[in-house]
Amino acid sequence: MSRQLVVLTLAAAFVLTACAREETPAQAPAPEDITAARDAANALGAQLKTRLLNAIETGGPIAAIDVCNLEAPEIAANVSDETGLRARRTALRWRNPANAPDDFERTAMESFLSQIETGADPATLELAEIVTGPQGRQLRYMKPIMTGGPCILCHGTDISDEVKTAILARYPDDQATGFAPGEFRGAFTITKDLEK
Ligand code: HEC
Repeated sequence: MSRQLVVLTLAAAFVLTACAREETPAQAPAPEDITAARDAANALGAQLKTRLLNAIETGGPIAAIDVCNLEAPEIAANVSDETGLRARRTALRWRNPANAPDDFERTAMESFLSQIETGADPATLELAEIVTGPQGRQLRYMKPIMTGGPCILCHGTDISDEVKTAILARYPDDQATGFAPGEFRGAFTITKDLEK
């Protein structure tokens, strides 16, 4: 009888400790930090899309390559200035080597990709984690970027020779083609330095 009680008490203590450990506050990103990171990713996406569609409409895809090439980093820098968060884009198959992922980003994108392949709605996917590394404690936030209709002009399977030539002139090691609309293209990636 009393032995049973000891076992039960031990089991209860174990469950309580396990629960407490899972909620270690130091490792859980603050909800307001997640919201701010999500907002920054959405702002970067919206501004890029507006600028890109505008450039395609007024100057055609070749002129729009310049927008992606020159303005994308500028738009990302503006969003970073406005929000105090580092905002950029990355991909598993990238066009600009400067957008290549680090280990955290690669793992996150591989996970997004496999979740999407098994039926997850990409619009609901995001990842927010506190990571401690050589740069100290950081909030890392990521959100998928999907390929849409206009994207295939420059990232699709059937790119015009003119566009292909213009892309390869700037990005001789381009890997960011062969995408179909609706396919996972890459991710917005937001970083915030946290106090030690
Ligand atoms: C007019 C051609 C063009 C169109 C249309 C276009 N892109 Fe790009 N994309 C580029 C270029 C050029 C780069 C490289 C930008 C740089 O130098 O940072 C790029 C880079 C990217 C990157 C960053 C990772 C990488 O590969 O370097 C992502 C993500 C991306 N594009 C997604 C999209 C999506 C999504 C769309 C549709 C909404 C789209 N692109 C439409 C030309 C285009």
